[in-house]
Amino acid sequence: MAISFFKPKADENVEDRAIIDLRDVNKNYKTAVGDYHALKNVDLKIEAGEFVSIIGKSGSGKTTLLNMITGIDRPTNGEVWVNGTGVHGLNENRMARWRGKNLGIVFQFFQLLPMISVIENIMLPMDFCRTYPINERRKRAMDLLELVELAEHAHKLPTALSGGQQQRVAIARALANDPPVVIADEPTGNLDSKTAESVFALFNDLVAKGKTIIIVTHDSGLAKRTHRTALIADGEIVNEFVAKAMPTLTHNQLLQATKVAQKMNFNAGAMILSEGTNADTFYIVTEGTVEVILPRPNQSDVVALQLGPGKVFGEIEFFHESKHRASIRASESTPVEVLAIGYDQLAELLNQSEVTREALHHLANKHNGENLSWRGVSS
Ligand SMILES: Nc1ncnc2c1ncn2[C@@H]1O[C@H](COP(=O)(O)OP(=O)(O)OP(=O)(O)O)[C@@H](O)[C@H]1O
Ligand SMILES: [Mg+2]
Repeated sequence: MAISFFKPKADENVEDRAIIDLRDVNKNYKTAVGDYHALKNVDLKIEAGEFVSIIGKSGSGKTTLLNMITGIDRPTNGEVWVNGTGVHGLNENRMARWRGKNLGIVFQFFQLLPMISVIENIMLPMDFCRTYPINERRKRAMDLLELVELAEHAHKLPTALSGGQQQRVAIARALANDPPVVIADEPTGNLDSKTAESVFALFNDLVAKGKTIIIVTHDSGLAKRTHRTALIADGEIVNEFVAKAMPTLTHNQLLQATKVAQKMNFNAGAMILSEGTNADTFYIVTEGTVEVILPRPNQSDVVALQLGPGKVFGEIEFFHESKHRASIRASESTPVEVLAIGYDQLAELLNQSEVTREALHHLANKHNGENLSWRGVSS
């Protein structure tokens, strides 16, 4: 296969390199009957190379969410970062060209131009963004058609192709400018299951080649086969770190936990909690690294543990005693963001999920043992 794709360089020094980062995004639509809050405080991070599916009922906000990422629509407030660019701040002039180079977009109904041939449809984004020399564009379009196994249909009009073939053309078109990210809104929604399967297989190949792919789908079977699924309900998305920290909660419980959790930010090196003070809150790290600092008999304090995104603290005290068992500080190298859930609210959640209570209790016991052994106390 002649087609070459840009491979993102691995950068060992930068940990948190989300290629897509939605921060506290809200979208209100003005309607005849007042404002409609279609996205509510949505936080979503997607790392380069991930294959993510977005699922949720009709009207839950999936397309609205994709439109925020592609810049087809703007958030009412909040920030949308894609491949290092603040999409929320781009003006219309710059948006179209930026989008053409950075995103491949695939729609449910293909949206190929009916009056021009398949190969010309694929060349169009290259012409628009002037990404490849004129004399290379046709060859590249042909290579892309080979990739989607449609080379022999290059000179037909799109309408002469089946639905599945048209969708594969649309995918080839989305790849024309070699964007790092491909966004697809129900790309298989209009296809029979066998054809849907071949389109899905094509996405899998692209992920293997280093692309980041986000698809909206109604097909929970397909969603399960992506790396990660984000479930959206009434414009709200479960915080992924809450899900990571308490994976045994049901979707509704995760949504409840996401709602009650309060975001807190700390500068690099800042003290978050001091040992011995009263404990009343459970914390989930969402950004940066926190250090667990313990005193040792006749020695200086020690950083016993470093906790990154998805890790928790404050769970020992919930189960064991109400005074903090260690000091917690943001590491010197990065600012820290955590989600805070009060013990009352945590208790309410755990009352609904015995298995989550057990898992957290087990973790608290393990950490408590480690805590004691660091202090030189045998547990
Ligand atoms: N331009 C608009 N003006 C007013 N309301 C809108 C607009 N676009 C979407 N909405 C409303 O926002 C909500 C979310 O719509 P959205 O299209 O994002 O849903 P969806 O999850 O993609 O649904 P589906 O699965 O049916 O495609 C819906 O209640 C919809 O009616
Ligand atoms: Mg939709």
